[in-house]
Amino acid sequence: MAKLSVLGSINVDHVMQVSAAPCGGQTIEAKHYQIVAGGKGANQAVAAAKLGADVAMIGCVGSDAIGEQMKRGLADVGINIDGITTIADENTGLAMIYVEDSGENRIGIWPGANGALTEAVLAEHQGTIEASELLLLQLETPIQTLVTAAKVAKSAGVKVVLNPAPAKALPEELLRHVDTITPNESEAELLTGIAINELSDAGLAANHLHSQFGIEMVLITLGKRGVWLSHKGEGMHIAGFTVDAVDTTAAGDTFNGGFVTALLEGKSALEAVRFGQAAAALSVTRMGAQSSIPTRSEALTLLL
Ligand code: RIB
Ligand code: NA
Repeated sequence: MAKLSVLGSINVDHVMQVSAAPCGGQTIEAKHYQIVAGGKGANQAVAAAKLGADVAMIGCVGSDAIGEQMKRGLADVGINIDGITTIADENTGLAMIYVEDSGENRIGIWPGANGALTEAVLAEHQGTIEASELLLLQLETPIQTLVTAAKVAKSAGVKVVLNPAPAKALPEELLRHVDTITPNESEAELLTGIAINELSDAGLAANHLHSQFGIEMVLITLGKRGVWLSHKGEGMHIAGFTVDAVDTTAAGDTFNGGFVTALLEGKSALEAVRFGQAAAALSVTRMGAQSSIPTRSEALTLLL
């Protein structure tokens, strides 16, 4: 049985490389266009699998050719895809992505089949979650299903890690069933009302998440500034790796996949953050979402 369950989105990403994203009323021609596998759930599952974890994915694709292709891609990296449901008369979720020269992106998503990951679909795969050691969640599938999945995990003694992306206000019921949360700066601000300017603000936001919702571990990812790690209120700053950014898409996903992989191997939270950071740093130097995720040996080499 897989040690890691990832419940979440599966998208096909349409990526255009542009000097700068178009303004209102403007039409621009891209320098490069690519269709790649994406979706926060699938990206995190692929990151964990490539970085060494035993992964089962729970998600939905549409009844289109691209959905089949996305499923095959997940199976190819060793992910158990028994939990992926094909939704009739739906299209596979998709993302339209502009990547600017700076490596920064702008993303619009259409959920498609991801919106059909209902509690009824979850019920069919509850056993997969219960048999795993850790459940990893994000926010591109219906929130009520995440609440139920987190409860199922907790009552089976399975750890729950929530990457609260993309930024969304969340029911307290979800946050109360989470062991570890990994927001970036804007997500942390949305959840706590505390704007993250200084590092000390990350400490305040982390304390808010500990005290309001009983979340044991908080990791606030700070982009180039690294990560704020707070365990039961004991906070520390962990600097990141400096790399030349080509495309930051899926950097957060790669970080989360790497982090949980190392945790499952019994590494300390600090070691797990460093492993996630190394993997994410490499992903930023390459185009695309899943196409940019490094192998375990590449990530370990960067850590030497
Ligand atoms: O986190 C990156 C992902 O967000 C992309 O792969 C895209 O599909 C969007 O969901
Ligand atoms: Na990338």
